[in-house]
Amino acid sequence: MHEINERLGSELQRKYVTPAQWFRVADLYLKLSHGNISPINIGNVHSELLHLQNCSRDLAEFCSGRLFVYFGVGVGDTEMALADVVTQARHLWEGVLVDINPVFLKMFIRSLENRALEDGQNRFSYVAVQDLFEDLKKTAISPNNSQSNGRLFVCLGSTIGNFEASDEIWTLWTRLAEKGDRALVGYQTNKYLPIVFEKYRSHSGYRALIGNFLSAEERQTIEWKLNRPSSSIEAWYGDVQIFRTRKFTHEEVKIGAARHGWTEEFARLDSRENVCLQAFVKT
Ligand SMILES: C[S@@+](CC[C@H](N)C(=O)[O-])C[C@H]1O[C@@H](n2cnc3c(N)ncnc32)[C@H](O)[C@@H]1O
Repeated sequence: MHEINERLGSELQRKYVTPAQWFRVADLYLKLSHGNISPINIGNVHSELLHLQNCSRDLAEFCSGRLFVYFGVGVGDTEMALADVVTQARHLWEGVLVDINPVFLKMFIRSLENRALEDGQNRFSYVAVQDLFEDLKKTAISPNNSQSNGRLFVCLGSTIGNFEASDEIWTLWTRLAEKGDRALVGYQTNKYLPIVFEKYRSHSGYRALIGNFLSAEERQTIEWKLNRPSSSIEAWYGDVQIFRTRKFTHEEVKIGAARHGWTEEFARLDSRENVCLQAFVKT
């Protein structure tokens, strides 16, 4: 946490606040992530979770036997659902959990322990890494007792839309991956952009989350902007961009991944075309 606080100063000077800052206070994020509150959900209580369960057959085939490397755990509901898909077939789930906030890591470890209590047949083997994605070393995601055949990089919950560059996740993963490794991303599409913008803008909880380093008065001056050319929702504090969430078409994500040598295996949109689960192989 100390290091994150120190980074904030230089980020403010650079006039650009990075996503790791928004999740410093776990409770602020958890308050925004339950029920129908999250702007990522359209038409149901958890678009990505329900979609993931609807795609379970494809996902079981694509993910089974892999070492899961989670980039961001957060609430962990979808990440756990993905582990469930795998243990139903194989009874073993192996993973590396990467998150800057230890509260989210501990919550996810508790979830794994709960699952293990439910069914003694299932084994969950994990490493938890409290680090920035940007600083992650290959050794941290290479447990030497792994029984899995290659890695599966996973980034859910539209986290890929929070980076500065739209293809940043592929830059990070390409540095860490071997040929044949797989990847799964889950994100919100740009289909409902104006509605989603209004949901962010009108909920004061988002000001509290992204302005967690500001006073209550300062938070009132945060301005929301809809950037249509880049399908992004942005928040500005003066001339500092303190938040962004970019929405994508699956074609855009496919093209961005291909530039880094990741070939699409499948893209599945939910029935409302609001969320997409997209799978890739490193070639
Ligand atoms: C938007 S949440 C998504 C996670 C989960 N799918 C969810 O729905 O809650 C992003 C998560 O990634 C973590 N995170 C964001 N940026 C990070 C970074 N640069 N390095 C490490 N962790 C980061 C946050 O702490 C948070 O737990």
